[in-house]
Amino acid sequence: MLGTPWDYQDRAAEFLTRLNELDGRGIIVCNAPQMVRWNIDKRYLKQLAEADAAIVPTLWHDNPDREVVLGAMEHFECERVVVKRQIGAGALGQHSFTHAVPPDADWCMGRAAMIQPFLPAIVEDGEYSFIFIDGAFSHGVRKRPATGDYRIQSLFGGREEAFMPSPTDLAQAQDVLASMPATDLLYARIDMVRLSDERLAVMEAELVEPYLYPEQGPEFGERIARAILRRL
Ligand SMILES: Nc1ncnc2c1ncn2[C@@H]1O[C@H](COP(=O)(O)OP(=O)(O)O)[C@@H](O)[C@H]1O
Ligand SMILES: [Mg+2]
Repeated sequence: MLGTPWDYQDRAAEFLTRLNELDGRGIIVCNAPQMVRWNIDKRYLKQLAEADAAIVPTLWHDNPDREVVLGAMEHFECERVVVKRQIGAGALGQHSFTHAVPPDADWCMGRAAMIQPFLPAIVEDGEYSFIFIDGAFSHGVRKRPATGDYRIQSLFGGREEAFMPSPTDLAQAQDVLASMPATDLLYARIDMVRLSDERLAVMEAELVEPYLYPEQGPEFGERIARAILRRL
């Protein structure tokens, strides 16, 4: 089980090579290297959208600069956008620009990126995580940013609480899981944000990071232990 992959976003090729090596030696790797490869680059969101999942509207660009960011605001008809890495984690290297405070003239992302309209629901309502083990829903988490921030990560002062989803919300997360090209996932975390029409859109579908909010899932330990045992 992936244990401490916390720099995979900066060393993706090395990380994937290592997983393949383990796999090649007959060591069970969870989640499977081909699914980690699929999931490490957020362009998988396009595939989920093709399978009818609601995603956050996104423009993809190899190396956006000030003009591209301003163009995205025009495209989305919005005042504020988030620019993030296609291979990223923990909101690191992420930017939020507004009409009033756009990128500097000489700014560029320096890597493949995605641009999205800023969703105020992240601040007003939070982000929801649905944790699945062996395809079965285990527990839900609601994550909210610190006052004045929009990133829900605890590194930036975000807070987490247990969350019991409604059947409609849960069904939407299950649909996302079902639209992945995957079988036999040990674990999956579907992160979602509420759109203005109440539907949930996928922020990301996480098959790499092993931090699955055990504090909000009292039965998580036993469930994951059983799921691992089933694979041995
Ligand atoms: N379009 C957006 N609108 C508002 N906040 C966003 C948006 N995209 C990302 N964020 C904030 O940034 C955080 C990190 O973005 P995310 O897409 O989850 O990437 P990762 O967690 O892999 O770095 C989110 O949890 C959320 O708090
Ligand atoms: Mg995230």
